[in-house]
Amino acid sequence: MSNPVRVAFVGAGAHASYAHYPSLAEMKDVQVVAVCDLSPERASAAAQRWNIPRTYTDYRRMLDEVEPQAVYVILPPHQMFEIVVEALNRRLHVFIEKPPGITVQQTRNLARLAEKNGCLTMVGFQRRFVPLLVQARRRVEERGAITQCLVRFVKSGGTEDYYGGSVDILTCDAIHAVDNLRWLGGEVKRLVSTVDRFHSPVDNAFNALVEFQSGAVGILLTNWVTGRRIYSVEMHSLNISAYAEPDDRALIYRDGSLEPEVILNTEAAGSDAPHRYLGFYDENRHFIECIQSGRQPQTCFADAVKTMELVERIRHERL
Ligand SMILES: NC(=O)c1ccc[n+]([C@@H]2O[C@H](COP(=O)([O-])OP(=O)(O)OC[C@H]3O[C@@H](n4cnc5c(N)ncnc54)[C@H](O)[C@@H]3O)[C@@H](O)[C@H]2O)c1
Repeated sequence: MSNPVRVAFVGAGAHASYAHYPSLAEMKDVQVVAVCDLSPERASAAAQRWNIPRTYTDYRRMLDEVEPQAVYVILPPHQMFEIVVEALNRRLHVFIEKPPGITVQQTRNLARLAEKNGCLTMVGFQRRFVPLLVQARRRVEERGAITQCLVRFVKSGGTEDYYGGSVDILTCDAIHAVDNLRWLGGEVKRLVSTVDRFHSPVDNAFNALVEFQSGAVGILLTNWVTGRRIYSVEMHSLNISAYAEPDDRALIYRDGSLEPEVILNTEAAGSDAPHRYLGFYDENRHFIECIQSGRQPQTCFADAVKTMELVERIRHERL
């Protein structure tokens, strides 16, 4: 086996601990060589739990001393830009979370810098890697290209922007559904949207009808003040439909039959661990394998620019 991929982390917060450390810890061909967090307690807790040999509070010092191949920058979106620029200027491969910047311009600038420096990059749009959604899509596409799809992302109690107001709900979180629509339908030819503030001083509901360049049609349905959180995806091709919830199961209907094929999320993932059935393991695996083979990940910064541009279009091309 070739040498393990040497990875360093900036950020030992909630999401890194839930999604990324447990995923990488299961890979024998990856070595997490250091973790940096402004909070020494968090860095030490992550190091202890995941057997990481070195901790830092200064990311520049960490990058100088451990010379990783790749760095994960898992910070709130308004705090990560400068660190990602530094990593790209050191010609490191970089994984960041969504959103890939607080504006589309930030994302474009990161993508240009990554290209100039030959870096492989990835944004954590893990819903493209959810085993249940990947399987459901494969079943539907056995009958031909997707003709229609719908991505619903609704939550409860969302009347404030994220991170103290530094990034809006659509860019920070509903972007998952926007990116999933692009994954299913490809690039968008035209769209019409509604953007609303339901019981809220900030925009908290974003709906869109989109026509893809392929001729397929997509629907985005998001609202942050509904009865409960639901993430669900609907896809259709010739006489076949899939209704899938990554938190639960997919129902596949064929040829008018009322008896669906049922696929459980845990069955699709072969595991009942959330970092597996929610797609985090597979997105991390994709990043590592891309580094090993020198190819650009599916959700590289240049691709993420397109998702951020679609976010902008949804904000502006209103009914
Ligand atoms: N893909 C998903 O489904 C998903 C889910 C939740 C969060 N996220 C994303 O993950 C990212 C992180 O969110 P979180 O909830 O884990 O945040 P968090 O606040 O829990 O963790 C961030 C950590 O970064 C550290 N930090 C901040 N600036 C630093 C610096 N300059 N150097 C070193 N450490 C620094 C903080 O001390 C903190 O421990 C966000 O972009 C968020 O949007 C993604």
